[in-house]
Amino acid sequence: MLKLSGVSKSYGSGVKAVDKLDLHVRPGEIFGFLGPNGAGKTTTIKMVVGVLKPDEGEIEIGGVNLAREPIRAKLMTGYLPDEATLWDKLTGIEYLNFMGDVYGVSLEERKKRIIPLLETFEMTKPVGDPIGSYSRGMRQKIALIGSLLHRPRFWILDEPMMGLDPRSSFLLKEMMRSHVREGGSVFFSTHVMEVAERLCDRLGIINKGKLIAVGTTDEIRKLFAQEGDKTLEEVFLKVTEAKLPEDQLASLAK
Ligand SMILES: Nc1ncnc2c1ncn2[C@@H]1O[C@H](COP(=O)(O)OP(=O)(O)OP(=O)(O)O)[C@@H](O)[C@H]1O
Ligand SMILES: [Mg+2]
Repeated sequence: MLKLSGVSKSYGSGVKAVDKLDLHVRPGEIFGFLGPNGAGKTTTIKMVVGVLKPDEGEIEIGGVNLAREPIRAKLMTGYLPDEATLWDKLTGIEYLNFMGDVYGVSLEERKKRIIPLLETFEMTKPVGDPIGSYSRGMRQKIALIGSLLHRPRFWILDEPMMGLDPRSSFLLKEMMRSHVREGGSVFFSTHVMEVAERLCDRLGIINKGKLIAVGTTDEIRKLFAQEGDKTLEEVFLKVTEAKLPEDQLASLAK
């Protein structure tokens, strides 16, 4: 289980990006993290993978406290950042071998993992070329493969569908499903309502650093639907509605 308890993070500018967040991602589930731009999704994800330190609160990964045993906890997670740091001068395969080294994956295991993943994402040919020559989608695919080499239990992805063509996006969704079928968990952020609705076992909606709804799509829809059946998109728009203060509205109307 992935568990956040009372996690907060402010940036130097004084912005409280994440505000006392409690969140559970259960074994065997795909958990979708929704929220408008600037809501705190990336900040939360960066804390879960150990890139940022929370100001307060605890993060547990598979029963291991991230602050106390960071390496043990990090070995259980595979992370796809919103903008992966890939080195343009490395070839795809050099990058994957680098990731294999970082996570201590044996050469034999690497081969077993890399070859089918390259085939799945149709990256077998370009893997020998420098990453600098890759399209945006190809960069995303190499980063995705790199995040899975060490067979992480928790697959954590920040807007993973960005830049993927329909076929690759479909393949990724299939991979997420097979990851949880094998007992792992997936925690990912997205702006695509249709993906959230169809793919996720449970969803969390964050706004201004606070979790404002959590549950299955149906539970969330029921929780907020006042009249009739509302779509998740309608609920999302309603609960994350940005309201300008009255005085600001008044001055704009002048
Ligand atoms: N390095 C930073 N320094 C200062 N403020 C930051 C920094 N990174 C993020 N923020 C602020 O923290 C808040 C949350 O940002 P975050 O990137 O977590 O949002 P998000 O939900 O991932 O948004 P998006 O959907 O646009 O990716 C925003 O107000 C943002 O301006
Ligand atoms: Mg983000």
